Amino acid sequence: MYKAMLRVLHLTQRRLHRRAPDMALSRIAILALALLQWAPSVAYPTGAPESACESMAPKHKNVSPQTSASPYSITASNSSFKADQKVQVTITGEPYQGLLLQAREMSKSTAVGTWEAPPNNTKPIKCFNVMNSSITHSNTYLKTNETVYTWIPPSSNKCIKIQFVATVAKNKATYWLNVRSPQLYDETCSSCVKIIPGFTLLLFTMMWSIISQ
Ligand SMILES: *[C@@H]1O[C@H](CO)[C@@H](O)[C@H](O)[C@H]1NC(C)=O
Ligand SMILES: *[C@@H]1O[C@H](CO)[C@@H](O)[C@H](O)[C@H]1NC(C)=O
Ligand SMILES: *[C@@H]1O[C@H](CO)[C@@H](O)[C@H](O)[C@H]1NC(C)=O
Ligand SMILES: *[C@@H]1O[C@H](CO)[C@@H](O)[C@H](O)[C@H]1NC(C)=O
Repeated sequence: MYKAMLRVLHLTQRRLHRRAPDMALSRIAILALALLQWAPSVAYPTGAPESACESMAPKHKNVSPQTSASPYSITASNSSFKADQKVQVTITGEPYQGLLLQAREMSKSTAVGTWEAPPNNTKPIKCFNVMNSSITHSNTYLKTNETVYTWIPPSSNKCIKIQFVATVAKNKATYWLNVRSPQLYDETCSSCVKIIPGFTLLLFTMMWSIISQ
């Protein structure tokens, strides 16, 4: 009888032991859920973190990007760029609280060039190991279409096309991903293209003069 009681006790103890980690797990789960609930209300009030540089997406559950066409658009002062010519960039649409803005080479997912000292309520951040290669908000005060960002093109002449790409947050819960400006062409590249016909003509003339000799 005593032995049997001891065995029951032993079994219950083992069961309790087995349950303990489960309870700890469920506590963690509850805490995680609570954190997720809480996350949207603090969705980066002081700007996007470096971890958002590539996806440009806020990384929290419960809030997804708007699927409707973006009410925002990005306009640039120039349709082309070259090394020493800064480009003014604006986001037009209703006033917005948050943004993450980069210049990207077409179909690439890293930033090109850097940004000049940004307007009030925004700040430059380091993305892809390059200082000031993106701009984000520094608080939730409203930015408007009068907020102008100044982009400094890269100095290397790579003959690329770029677009300004942004995530624009009207407020903490409402944001649009992948808002894009029209394409900008590398001016040094189009000058290369202009040289080629002249060069071909020169070659042709030289060959003609050799043949006709
Ligand atoms: C680019 O914009 C500047 C002013 O911001 C202007 O002086 C220049 O002519 C523009 N260049 C082109 C190619 O549009
Ligand atoms: C800028 O915003 C104001 C106020 O929201 C609006 O009246 C104006 O049309 C906007 N301008 C442009 C170019 O979007
Ligand atoms: C980055 O921007 C800050 C101010 O916006 C400026 O003081 C700093 O020199 C810039 N650094 C680079 C590497 O562009
Ligand atoms: C930016 O903020 C500073 C100080 O907070 C202020 O003096 C300046 O007028 C502001 N600039 C703009 C363009 O609003």
